[in-house]
Amino acid sequence: MIIALTGTPGTGKTTVCGIIKENSQYRGLYSIIDLNKIIIEEGLHSGRDEESDSYIADFEKLEKRVKELTSNPDRNIIIEGHLSHFLPADSIIVLRAHPVALRKRLGRRKDYSFKKIKENANAEALDVILVESSERSDKVFEIDTTNINALAVVKSVIFITESLEKGKIPEGFLPGKLNWIDLVEL
Ligand SMILES: Nc1ncnc2c1ncn2[C@@H]1O[C@H](COP(=O)(O)OP(=O)(O)OP(=O)(O)O)[C@@H](O)[C@H]1O
Ligand SMILES: [Mg+2]
Repeated sequence: MIIALTGTPGTGKTTVCGIIKENSQYRGLYSIIDLNKIIIEEGLHSGRDEESDSYIADFEKLEKRVKELTSNPDRNIIIEGHLSHFLPADSIIVLRAHPVALRKRLGRRKDYSFKKIKENANAEALDVILVESSERSDKVFEIDTTNINALAVVKSVIFITESLEKGKIPEGFLPGKLNWIDLVEL
């Protein structure tokens, strides 16, 4: 199964995948494709966007490369990155974090301006990635990471994957339970 692990920057995607990579028990279940890494290292972009201070992904090249990397899987694959929901996958898991918690997490990043933190917290409050994901797939699940540690998030990812493999819907992770709309800051 190919899983897109997406979410607003700061929701914990890389932390979760770090735990999976470090732990042999989890490493045997999933191989990880780090989208940000391949975009930069393999030049799958059309340059830098100065305003957002990030690379502009070349989706045609990125999709072609991800299809190559996922063509012969020996285990489940997690495509990790905040653009992963735009790529072909069997299901999408959206990591979520309360906008106040997210502001705190992103506030620790030296390279994140006040403006960038606010934009991301607002995107989270407005469910931007969840909406984009739901427009592309009917197999979308979300994990609220606000009050659980990253290991618990890993276990939730495994629960979702195993449920789907058994043909069951992991009801507890269906989207629609979070409502942070009042936390949008103008
Ligand atoms: N479940 C969690 N609870 C509390 N803090 C967390 C949790 N998961 C990650 N963090 C912290 O949040 C910060 C952001 O995590 P991380 O870099 O994994 O996010 P990301 O989703 O990969 O972001 P980006 O899209 O920018 O790469 C880190 O400081 C990390 O330690
Ligand atoms: Mg990351």
